[in-house]
Amino acid sequence: MANYADRWKTVAVEGQEGIAWVTLNRPDKRNAMSPTLNREKIDVLENLELDQEAQVLVLTGAGESWTAGMDLKEYFRETDGQPEIFQERMRRDACQWQWKLLRFYNKPTIAMVNGWCFGGAFSPLVACDLAICADEAVFGLSEINWGIPPGNLVSKAVADTMGHRQALYYIMTGDTWSGKEAAAMGLVNKSVPRSELRAEVRKLAGKLLEKNPVVLRYAKHGFKRCRELSWEQNEDYLYAKLDQSNGRDPEQGRAQGLKQFLDDKTLKPGLQSYKRG
Ligand code: COA
Repeated sequence: MANYADRWKTVAVEGQEGIAWVTLNRPDKRNAMSPTLNREKIDVLENLELDQEAQVLVLTGAGESWTAGMDLKEYFRETDGQPEIFQERMRRDACQWQWKLLRFYNKPTIAMVNGWCFGGAFSPLVACDLAICADEAVFGLSEINWGIPPGNLVSKAVADTMGHRQALYYIMTGDTWSGKEAAAMGLVNKSVPRSELRAEVRKLAGKLLEKNPVVLRYAKHGFKRCRELSWEQNEDYLYAKLDQSNGRDPEQGRAQGLKQFLDDKTLKPGLQSYKRG
């Protein structure tokens, strides 16, 4: 992977065996998302997308926080009274990485939630394909506690991942919940003790690294879009994704899989992945 050391002020990127560990890096501000961080994150995601050695992205936070949400000082108070066009630009930057780029990212993404996860954090959390958190992580839709309804696409994100009653309960009370509760409600895939978090995420990333990256991409894009389309539209869209996957796949995984199962009898696709290359 390219050397990204010291390239950004608010985000650190480190490559290891196909995994890009992307760390929101403002620990003294609990990794709150400032306008600078939002602009840098766009650049980070665009760079890693073209870096052939970055095959799986892990998004985490430095110190004891994943992210404490939008920066109440730099994103809100300091920009109050700025010309209206500045506000628009700032919102666009936030949306651009927090869900537009991330939600349909061309590589698999895992949110590794190591600690505090509040408010605006829910857009990138849900936009990541998969999420594993620490039991010790603390989640909260805290906007109500400082006087605004949830901003950005937070309500949409929780509507997609949490039950109706639970989402409204937390939006309306601002109460917090734990990593284990987040896993029980399906907001994250799994919760583990913080001491095991990195190893657990590495294990999951390892599974993804074994898969055909082109097929993975169209599988996840197809699933994410299908919630929003009718059955008729899905028939067209999902078959188009399937054909796109077959057409674009340089290793022709489908043919290999069929051969290994039907001819060589070396594969049980119900239980394992076909052997690549
Ligand atoms: N925006 C801006 N600054 C933030 C921040 C945020 N969302 N969250 C934390 N910080 C800053 C604090 O202002 C403080 O800065 P200072 O050292 O210059 O005073 C620093 O980070 C440490 O915060 P502190 O509150 O002392 O840390 P803590 O560990 O005791 O508590 C939190 C951590 C996350 C519980 C608490 O900081 C908090 O409630 N933050 C706001 C969370 C929130 O409502 N986010 C939603 C935004 S949409």
